[in-house]
Amino acid sequence: MLVLQRWSSARGPVARGVYCALRAFEGGSGPPNPRVILDGNPWTPAGALSSTGISFPRLSRSFAAAGTQGVPYDQLAVGVPKESFEGERRVALTPAGVAALKKAGFKEVLVESGAGAAANFSDADYEAAGAVMGSTGDAFGRDIVLKIRPPHEASEVPLLQQGARLISFLHPAQNKGLVDALAQKRVSALAMDCIPRTISRAQTFDALSSMANIAGYRAVIEAANHFGRFFTGQITAAGRVPPAKMLVIGGGVAGLSAIGTAKNMGAVVRVFDTRAAVAEQAKSLGAEFLTVNIEESGEGGGGYAKEMSKEFIEAEMKLFAEQAKDVDIIITTALIPGKRAPVLIKNHMVESMKPGSVTVDLAAEQGGNVETTVPGKVVQAGGVTCIGYTDLPSRLPTQSSTLFSNNISKFLLSMGPFTGHKGQFCIDHADEARLRRTGDAGGQAAGGRGVADLPAREDSMRVLAAMFNSMLGSQQQESEEEGSV
Ligand SMILES: NC(=O)c1ccc[n+]([C@@H]2O[C@H](COP(=O)([O-])OP(=O)(O)OC[C@H]3O[C@@H](n4cnc5c(N)ncnc54)[C@H](O)[C@@H]3O)[C@@H](O)[C@H]2O)c1
Repeated sequence: MLVLQRWSSARGPVARGVYCALRAFEGGSGPPNPRVILDGNPWTPAGALSSTGISFPRLSRSFAAAGTQGVPYDQLAVGVPKESFEGERRVALTPAGVAALKKAGFKEVLVESGAGAAANFSDADYEAAGAVMGSTGDAFGRDIVLKIRPPHEASEVPLLQQGARLISFLHPAQNKGLVDALAQKRVSALAMDCIPRTISRAQTFDALSSMANIAGYRAVIEAANHFGRFFTGQITAAGRVPPAKMLVIGGGVAGLSAIGTAKNMGAVVRVFDTRAAVAEQAKSLGAEFLTVNIEESGEGGGGYAKEMSKEFIEAEMKLFAEQAKDVDIIITTALIPGKRAPVLIKNHMVESMKPGSVTVDLAAEQGGNVETTVPGKVVQAGGVTCIGYTDLPSRLPTQSSTLFSNNISKFLLSMGPFTGHKGQFCIDHADEARLRRTGDAGGQAAGGRGVADLPAREDSMRVLAAMFNSMLGSQQQESEEEGSV
C-alpha cells in the first residue's frame, strides 16, 4: 500500500525525499511502490523523512496530547465519482458498500448520479442504501473520495478539496505527473495497487488480486467466444468431439482463475510457471504442470516472480514452440513486478498454431507476452485470433464493482485509531514501538528477497508493511480484548 502525503511537516518540506524515492522506481510497473510521507496534519501524526525518503513517524503534539484520535465518521462525507475513463463500466462503491459506510456512521455518502449505471446499480438503488446523489463536482468535493482508476490529472484533480483523502488505484511509478498534482493539492492518497499481497490480514483489501481473478475468468470467456468449437469433449451421434487444449503461461492469481474456469468448461489445461509453488496449485485444479530441464527458482518474494536467466527463457520458449503446434488456446499472464512483460510467444509460434486458435494476452498493458498482441484490440494473425484487451475486469462490471467495493470499503473502515474511540478515521502511526517492532517481520512478508536488489524499495516496503501490521495488529488486539470481556 502506498500512503502519499506531501506538504510541509514541522521539519520543513518533505517533497525532496518523495521524489528521490519516486525516481528510484521510475519506469517500473506493477505492484508495491514505495512512498510514505507523513505530515503533521490533523488526520495523521507528524512524520519525518530519512535519507531513503522514508522513516518512522513521530507523534504530532496534537495526537500525543489527545491520545490517538482521528476524525469522527459523523463529521466526514465520502464521495464516489463516476469513472470517467473511456469505456470504464465499474464503480468504486456499490449500494451495499454505501450501506456499510452509512451503518458505520459516516455523515454522508455522495454518489455521482449515474455512477453505477453501467454496472447495473441504479441511482434508486443507491438512494435506498442511504446515499445522496450529486454531480461530478459534488463527488470529488467530499472529504474522502473513493475511485477505481486514478483521477485524471487535468480534469479531476482540480475538483478535489485541498487536503482531501483519495483512495483508488494510482500506479504511482507510472503516474509521476499525477502524484505531483495530488501533492500540490495536499491530497493524501492511498494506492489500492500498493497493498502488499502476502500480508494475509490485508488480503481483504487486495483489489489487484480481485481484479486479476476476474480478468483470468473473463480471458477464458473471451477465448471461448472467439473459438469455433466446444471446450469440453463429447461423444455425439454425429461423431466424437475432442476437448479443446489450452496452455496457460503464468499461474498467478489470473492464471489460476483461468485454469479453474477452463477446467470447469471441460478443456484440457496445461500450465507453465517459473515458480515451483504454482505446480501444486495448478494440479489441484486439474491442470497438467509443464517443466523444462533447467533448475532455477523463479520465486521473487512477496508472491511475485523474479526475472529468469537467458538460458531458462530460451528453454521455456522452446517448450512453448512445441506446445503452440498442439494447443488450441494460449492464455498468457506472465508478469514480473516493475519490468516489461517478457515476450514468450513469438510471431512464428503464433503462425504455427492451428487455424481457428486463439491467444489471450493478459499482459498486453505491460507490453504483452505474445508478439502479435495489439493492446486493447482483437487482431487476426494468419488464422489465429489474438486478444489484447486491457479492460477485462470492466467487461464484468457488476462482479468487479462488487469485489472492488468490498475491498475499498473494508480498507477505509480498517483505518482509524485502535485505542480510545471507535468510529473515527485516521491513518494511525501512533504506536512507534509497535512500528519498530513489527518492521522487520513486515518487511519480509511484504517483499523479502524479491525487493532486496532495490534497497530503497525494501526499506519503504518494510515501513508500509509495518503500518499494515500496526493497523491490523491493533485491530486484532482490540477484538481479542473485546472477546475476553
Ligand atoms: N488485461 C486485463 O484486463 C488485466 C486485468 C487484470 C490483470 N491483468 C494482468 O494480468 C497479469 C497477471 O496478473 P496476476 O495478478 O495474476 O500476476 P501474478 O504475479 O499473480 O502472476 C504472474 C505469474 O507469471 C509468472 N511468470 C513470470 N515470468 C514468467 C515466465 N517467464 N514464464 C512463465 N511464468 C512467468 C509468475 O511466476 C506469476 O505466477 C498481469 O500482467 C496483470 O497486469 C490484466
